[in-house]
Amino acid sequence: MLVDTFGRTATDLRVSLTDRCNLRCTYCMPAEGLPWLPKAELLTDDEIVRLVDIAVRLLGVDEVRFTGGEPLVRPGVIDLIARVARLRPRPRISLTTNGIGLARLAPGLSTAGLDRVNVSLDTLDEAVFRKLTRRDRFADVVAGLEAAAAAGLEPVKLNSVLMRGINDHEAPDLLRWCLERGYELRFIEQMPLDAQHGWDRSEMVTAEEILAALEREFALTPEGEQARGAAPAETWLVDGGPGRVGVIASVTRPFCGSCDRVRLTADGQVRTCLFAREESDLRGALRAGASDEDLAERWRTAMLGKKRAAGIGEPGFVQPERPMSAIGG
Ligand code: 5AD
Ligand code: SF4
Repeated sequence: MLVDTFGRTATDLRVSLTDRCNLRCTYCMPAEGLPWLPKAELLTDDEIVRLVDIAVRLLGVDEVRFTGGEPLVRPGVIDLIARVARLRPRPRISLTTNGIGLARLAPGLSTAGLDRVNVSLDTLDEAVFRKLTRRDRFADVVAGLEAAAAAGLEPVKLNSVLMRGINDHEAPDLLRWCLERGYELRFIEQMPLDAQHGWDRSEMVTAEEILAALEREFALTPEGEQARGAAPAETWLVDGGPGRVGVIASVTRPFCGSCDRVRLTADGQVRTCLFAREESDLRGALRAGASDEDLAERWRTAMLGKKRAAGIGEPGFVQPERPMSAIGG
């Protein structure tokens, strides 16, 4: 098992398939994009499947989430998911995507064995979408969401980040829109993970503000700690249910104590936290011919470096060098 020195066990593996993306969300990337990882440094499909196999067979991982950048821009993503779905024990498989390409790929992904998707959408206003993502792709995301639901990739979850003065007035509209379509909406507090290092806590829209805005239009009943489990979202039933809404308050109400996650970057580095300052290289050992057991042992050792908490907002907090797009959400 992947146990850290604080007694937490990681069973949820997030694998970044690429650091590239077809959007340029302002809270993530600069307009010109980033210096992408060189192809030779990216794990190949075979290498990813091998590491995920080690994770599920030797290390107790039972959930695999593919992230990016934008994971759907990686060529061959459907085959990769099909191969992971054939591993035993078979992990649950999900994908975090900006939704572009999902209209075309959802049926194939579902057939390959993908169980669920999380789609990122921060606004219902095309003009705001253009401003926020610097691309004119709103309609593609909406079509992607519909295709995901039609393909049975459910529950379809939607992630929204609110930014002050840009889309922070949209919380109730986003929730109503999701309830009408049967999507499960979660708001995520903006985190200091942007490539430009422009995050400013005083600018962040807090969970408290989001809930206050929602409560002006909906009755929210907390689902309680039990429902949260190791999941970062705190959830509320809306108007008595069955619809619900979640808030991931990474900054104001961190959930590090029950974290069950570990991450693998597209270039084969284990990260024990989004905010980790250290990484452990598996790619080097893998390419040097390490055995499965040797790789598993390196992975277990990497977990011993997992910190008690991310410490955003604590004195001495330093933003990680890698931006979110190169870590995976
Ligand atoms: N803070 C919070 N969420 C972020 N995401 C990307 N960058 C940030 C950030 N700085 C979100 C995306 C997507 C998920 C992968 O993480 O909107 O929903
Ligand atoms: Fe792409 Fe996601 Fe970053 Fe937006 S937040 S630019 S969709 S990786």
